[in-house]
Amino acid sequence: MDKLKTILAVDDEPNMRRLLEISLRQAGYKPLVAADGKEALQVLKNQTIDLVVSDLHMPSMNGLELLRTIRQENDVLPFIMVTAQGEIKTAVEAMKLGASDYILRPFDLETLEIAIAKALSVKRLNLENTYLKAKSEDENDGLIGLSAPMLALKQLIHQVAPEKATVLITGETGTGKELVAKAIHQHSPRKNALFVAVNCAAIPAEMLESELFGYEKGAFTGAVKERIGKFELAEGGTLFLDEVTEMPINLQAKLLRALQEGIIEKLGGNRQIELDIRVVAATNRNPLQAVKEGKLREDLYYRLNVFQLPLPALRERSEDITLIAQDFLNKKSASISDEALQQLISYAWPGNVRELQNVLERAAILAGGNPISLHHLPADIAGTNATADTSFSNKQPPELTYSIPKTVEQLERKLIADAIAACQGNKSKAAKLLEISERSLWYKLEQYQLK
Ligand SMILES: Nc1ncnc2c1ncn2[C@@H]1O[C@H](COP(=O)(O)OP(=O)(O)OP(=O)(O)O)[C@@H](O)[C@H]1O
Ligand SMILES: [Mg+2]
Repeated sequence: MDKLKTILAVDDEPNMRRLLEISLRQAGYKPLVAADGKEALQVLKNQTIDLVVSDLHMPSMNGLELLRTIRQENDVLPFIMVTAQGEIKTAVEAMKLGASDYILRPFDLETLEIAIAKALSVKRLNLENTYLKAKSEDENDGLIGLSAPMLALKQLIHQVAPEKATVLITGETGTGKELVAKAIHQHSPRKNALFVAVNCAAIPAEMLESELFGYEKGAFTGAVKERIGKFELAEGGTLFLDEVTEMPINLQAKLLRALQEGIIEKLGGNRQIELDIRVVAATNRNPLQAVKEGKLREDLYYRLNVFQLPLPALRERSEDITLIAQDFLNKKSASISDEALQQLISYAWPGNVRELQNVLERAAILAGGNPISLHHLPADIAGTNATADTSFSNKQPPELTYSIPKTVEQLERKLIADAIAACQGNKSKAAKLLEISERSLWYKLEQYQLK
């Protein structure tokens, strides 16, 4: 069984503390309690805590100050803020400061349990949360490149950023659509409000509507409290609708209305909420093609496409490859041989900058502190000369054959030999690198008589 998760409950009310303690224990957690922010920090100093649930109002260091202090040192510790009904503004403030979630009091045990389970499960993804996005906005926009298409792009970003016009960013996977969306926000007068990203492809269709628009108390079974959606969270800021063509078509109608009128209604309500939001959308599909295929409503397309920003593929700006690679390697204190760099420049990069980063990341591990050279690159990038580069294939040059089993064997032999060499003979590390179990590695070594 997993170790019990330790949860620190912070509340100045002794009765509330006791109730939380009992409830948390009942829910299968190990509870710790503190009476205010100061006491909580003391506990955090001495114990490993998996999650904090804190009241907002407390005499000595309130919930927001506690959260702010924690976030100065720890970006990922899940934190749930308990606020009162009618304090939605404070809840938003808490989310901005990096809370994982908030619950409104009075709450029932189930609401608390769901919030905790959710916050614990997204702990790893936390790096992606709104708070970190907002935080990274302070730094420069991270767009590297001095090629003509890149300079043109930067100029367009500066031109369009100050406007409220909707921007539709298009481009292949890994070309930097999200980075550009953030840059637009960062260069806009909205930069002090939130940049809120919603990946329309990653959220289950049936949840997307409430995720975007929120719901009123009682909207459906289980909607015991009002909930704010991403639209409301982005008030005054920028809402980034990523993979917008993947949004269910009926929801697209509601989105269109929200964009046209600047008004939303939460699920289960008829209260009209007026919002001031700038929308940036992105897709790696051809949006007109998506319209033709009936995936994207035509009227929504025209509404989003006020200003289209097509991002160049990396192969169309191969001058930038060196700059991006150098920047990445500098951060890792790694280096690369001229020969290997030359191969990177001539490769077509279907996965664009993301693929380049992944290849460099892997190569840097393989190189283990030495300059990255050709044989640290995947065979298709290193080109043919790399296949002759390992001791193994020197002994047994690959035959020219169409046989799948023979070719697979050749390839497996080479990958295994490379991985073992890269890990200085450590088989368990090599298995990890090969992404197979140690057992399968042993089996293959036996089979190919490589032992
Ligand atoms: N011009 C650039 N300079 C430096 N890094 C970049 C650049 N463009 C993209 N990146 C980096 O490449 C990675 C992918 O970028 P991003 O997530 O913005 O791409 P995307 O177009 O949204 O991809 P997808 O369509 O797969 O979602 C990120 O790590 C990003 O920081
Ligand atoms: Mg993206």
